[in-house]
Amino acid sequence: EARPTDTAKRVVVAAPRGYCAGVDRAVQTVEKALDTYGAPIYVRKQIVHNRHVVETLSERGAIFVDELDEVPNDSLVIFSAHGVSPAVKAEAEARGLRTIDATCPLVTKVHHEAKRFANQGVQILLIGHGGHEEVEGTSGEAPDHITLVEHPADVDQLEVADPERVAWLSQTTLSVDETMETVDRLREKFPHLIDPPSDDICYATQNRQSAVKQIAAHSDLVIVVGSANSSNSVRLVEVALEAGARAAHRIDNADEIDPTWLTGVSSVGVTSGASVPESLVQGVLSYLEQQGFPPAEQERLVEENLTFALPHELRTSRRGTR
Ligand code: F3S
Repeated sequence: EARPTDTAKRVVVAAPRGYCAGVDRAVQTVEKALDTYGAPIYVRKQIVHNRHVVETLSERGAIFVDELDEVPNDSLVIFSAHGVSPAVKAEAEARGLRTIDATCPLVTKVHHEAKRFANQGVQILLIGHGGHEEVEGTSGEAPDHITLVEHPADVDQLEVADPERVAWLSQTTLSVDETMETVDRLREKFPHLIDPPSDDICYATQNRQSAVKQIAAHSDLVIVVGSANSSNSVRLVEVALEAGARAAHRIDNADEIDPTWLTGVSSVGVTSGASVPESLVQGVLSYLEQQGFPPAEQERLVEENLTFALPHELRTSRRGTR
C-alpha cells in the first residue's frame, strides 16, 4: 500500500552512476557470444561483479566458472572485465580452448604499464586489494617485480631493493582520496617514486565518487546499489560517509532495504556502482515513492560519452572464433 507523498522529503539520484564503458562492453560480449555461437558459453569468474547480471546471463546459457579446469575441452571461454594474468591465457592456449577476452581496455592499460616498468627493472608498488581478480591479473604480468600495498599504513613496513627505482600503479576501482594518501606516504619514503603515465583509477570510478560526494553532503541517507564483491560500489559507501552522509548502505536491490533506515530521514541520495543495471536503481526509486518520498531529482556532475568496441572476434566474424 503506497503512502501519500511527503513534500518535505527529497530523493536525489546521482549521475553519472551505473554502467561504465568497460562493463557495458563485457556484458555485451557475453550476450553477443551467446547469440553468435549459442549456449553454453563459459565465463571465467563473474563477467562483472554484479549478482543480477550474472544471474541473468546464467539463465541465457552462460556458465560461470572459477578456473579453466572447470571448462571442458573444445569450449569457448570468455575472460572477465577484471583481466587475467598471462599464465591463465597460456593455460587456455595450451588446452586449445577458444577464448574471447572481455578485459576492460582501461585494465589492459595498467597491465601494459606493469610490463613496461618491469622490463625497465623498476619495482612496482601496486596499490590495491589483495585477492581481487584485477590485482591477481595485473600482478601476474610481472610477479617478481610487483609488491602489493593495500593501505596507507602499509607504507611504513615496505622494503624495496632499490629506492631509486620504484614506481606505483593502482587498481582501477579504488577510493581516489585514500589512494592519494597512500601515494603521498610512498613519495615521502621514496622521493624518486615514479608515477604511472596516466591515472590508473578509471574515469568511471572517479566520476561516480565525485558525483556521490556532491549528493552525500545534503543526504540523511545514501543508498548505493551494487554487489558486495564490487570494489567500486563498496568504495561509494565509504566516500558517501566521508563526504558527510549521516548513513550510507549498499544493497543489491530494493528488497534489501531495511525500512528502519528511513525512520526520521527526509533526504535520500541514491547511486549505483559501475556494474549495476539501471533497472535496479529504478526499483529503489519506486520503493522510495511507495514509502511516501517524492519522485527523484537527478544531480548530474558530468556527461560520459566513452564507449569501447567489442572484442574483435565479435566485431567481424559470424562463424569461428579464432
Ligand atoms: Fe573499466 Fe573502470 Fe569500468 S576499469 S570496467 S571503466 S570501472
